[in-house]
Amino acid sequence: MSTRKKRKVIAGNWKMNMTPSEAKELISGIYSRIKGKKGCDVVVCVPFVDIPVAAAATKGTIIKLGAQNVHFEQKGAYTGEISASMLKECGVQYVIVGHSERREYFGETDETVNKRAKAALEAGLNVIICVGEKLEEREAGITGEVVSRQTKLALQDIPVTMMQNVIIAYEPVWAIGTGKTASNEDADEVCGIIRAVVSGKYGKSVARGLVIQYGGSMNAKNCEGLLAMNNIDGGLIGGASLKPDDFAVIVNAAQ
Ligand code: PGA
Repeated sequence: MSTRKKRKVIAGNWKMNMTPSEAKELISGIYSRIKGKKGCDVVVCVPFVDIPVAAAATKGTIIKLGAQNVHFEQKGAYTGEISASMLKECGVQYVIVGHSERREYFGETDETVNKRAKAALEAGLNVIICVGEKLEEREAGITGEVVSRQTKLALQDIPVTMMQNVIIAYEPVWAIGTGKTASNEDADEVCGIIRAVVSGKYGKSVARGLVIQYGGSMNAKNCEGLLAMNNIDGGLIGGASLKPDDFAVIVNAAQ
């Protein structure tokens, strides 16, 4: 695929970190370092209880607010769950679905990832759908197969009209939180496979416009090389998103 004009999205995935007061401080630290930047979208995906504070702290800034999960039912007897309309009313614009930690520790499957993505899109949220292979799958040479399958199943019955609100994050599981990053070329190759799957389902123009992020130990040192790759349109950042200086370096590299 020839070089594309990219829309870039840098999203921080805070995971289970930051109390509300810490969240407020972190957002103001990030904002003071990136204000005035225009070249990419910046999102912070915060724990549910931080949402009200984060909504107030991001208001009027270029930082958009995201959540880390959403339930697929609209309402009802689902103790402990949060619906898409609840997120929306609290000012959330993005939600991560299918993160590998949810798949690994909380029984998330390709089917529930798809249901969550659909519920979020129907409520008018943007979704960041995570896909990625485990170490043994990479070693077995089936990375492309695994990621293609996850992508296809996650997008099942999602109409083309909703694709402008979909981001796919390629996150090799072995690279998350480990300090090991995929090489620029390997990450680009897999993002290219994802783009080809989307092209096959929705056509070339949707595939060209799709934002595909890389995630997995992206940091202030390696971000520039990864973000320069043709198929990589941003990052989903865990550890480095909790450090304002490092996160700002990544945002700058995406400009
Ligand atoms: P990491 O996490 O940057 O700490 O590897 C990325 C993620 O899990 O989204």
